[in-house]
Amino acid sequence: RVPDPCIIVIFGASGDLTKRKLLPALYHLEQAGLLPDKISVVGVARRPLQDTFANDMKEGIIAGGGVDESDPKLAPFVGKIQYHAMNFDDPSGYDALNTLLGQIDQKNGTCGNRLFYLAVAPEYFSDIIKFLGQHGMSKPCEPTEGRTPWVRVIIEKPFGHDLESARALNDEVNKVFDEDQIFRIDHYLGKETVQNILVFRFANGIFENSWNRNYIDHVEITAAESIGIEGRGPFYETAGALRDVVQNHVMELLSFVAMEPPVSFEAAAVRAEKVKVWKAVSPIHPADTVRGQYGPGTVDGQHVVGYRQEDRVHPRSQTETYAALRLEIENWRWAGVPFYIRAGKRLAKRVTEITIQFKLPPLLLFKDHEGEAAEGIKPNLISMRIQPDEGISLRFGAKVPGAGMNISPVNMDFSYAEAFGKSSANGYERLLLDAMLGDATLFAHRDGVEATWALMTPILQAWAKDPVKDFPNYAAGTWGPPAADALLESENRKWRKL
Ligand code: BG6
Repeated sequence: RVPDPCIIVIFGASGDLTKRKLLPALYHLEQAGLLPDKISVVGVARRPLQDTFANDMKEGIIAGGGVDESDPKLAPFVGKIQYHAMNFDDPSGYDALNTLLGQIDQKNGTCGNRLFYLAVAPEYFSDIIKFLGQHGMSKPCEPTEGRTPWVRVIIEKPFGHDLESARALNDEVNKVFDEDQIFRIDHYLGKETVQNILVFRFANGIFENSWNRNYIDHVEITAAESIGIEGRGPFYETAGALRDVVQNHVMELLSFVAMEPPVSFEAAAVRAEKVKVWKAVSPIHPADTVRGQYGPGTVDGQHVVGYRQEDRVHPRSQTETYAALRLEIENWRWAGVPFYIRAGKRLAKRVTEITIQFKLPPLLLFKDHEGEAAEGIKPNLISMRIQPDEGISLRFGAKVPGAGMNISPVNMDFSYAEAFGKSSANGYERLLLDAMLGDATLFAHRDGVEATWALMTPILQAWAKDPVKDFPNYAAGTWGPPAADALLESENRKWRKL
């Protein structure tokens, strides 16, 4: 389905996200014939960019992959991009913007439909929302030709800083926009491999029967990055790994792995099941958490500085660039199954993976001389590789050809690239399209955001009261602090080698 004609208004358009992700994603939609003919993109930011903006976006689109300069759709698409300079806290800027949007409607037939995208630093969320409300821009204008226009707002992460601030922000946004106009974005939900977790579980008959405490020993979720903070010192100093990726991306992964089948694939039904998972997580004890911060080291053969030496980072910063947690979900499906989570920057490689480790079979037929499980018998694993080398692999034991009953673990692999070809999609395509279509299934809801902050906030509070003495405690290019290994070793388990 192609969305209605509309104007996409991106606040914070001079930032990296717009050029690197949003415009390339919109263009991928255009290439796929999924955008309406009548569409305009208005970038809004403080700097007087004017004419250079559209050209800059064109470079971003080309760098985003799957397109070159000669692409016949490129020039007409770039012609639909314009720029409006204003200060987000200046009310007069909103009047001028509103006038501009009205003119575009007249000229381009975008019918009053608006998608506001808040790609700004979080301190501007409140002002922009408030001024959109005060200038009557949060409500649709009068129906034309019997159709009521729509107005929606996409809000980037981080949505709040802790539970209290997330609640306050929700209150402010809900004063101006109805909940069904609000699309809190988490780009992980736009990733094919993340959506595929639900397909894997609920469109197949063979996995779900064993997807529970009777068969599963434990679950690991790793979100490892080899990059550092990429010049985002001031932001990262106030965030840290727990706020930056665990509260949102990793918790989303957790909910998809652990949720019950929803009654339908409608937004309300899916959200309800996700929230049930987060609410069933028992309070996470500080002793089940590990913080890390990278020191200097070597990544991909290059020497890199430690976190404390990064630009605009405090030389004695207490910010964690790595977090590991052990949690349990207290419900009938998962009681007693530990979930181990780790996320960090400047780790040995970039890999996001979910591993489900099954229990050994109840009766061991294949034993060694001492009556122990024969060498080579390893627990079954299902590993879902979210990125890169997207795919799913199932590990099982196979008989090694030859005399005797020697066993070796082998893998059955599914690779996205092999099955479906390589894609240059970045995750934002699906989410932008869904927002234009008004489908909020893959967006966070008020309850969900508050439920995940309710889990993270006590950890953040406990950490704030207990400064770390041994930072930096892992070298860039390694797998994080030794304490994270100890978290599993104390339960006779090990992080899977990735
Ligand atoms: C962002 C975080 O939300 O996600 C970044 O702010 C992180 O710090 C990024 O690098 C990871 O996204 P992806 O899609 O590269 O895994």
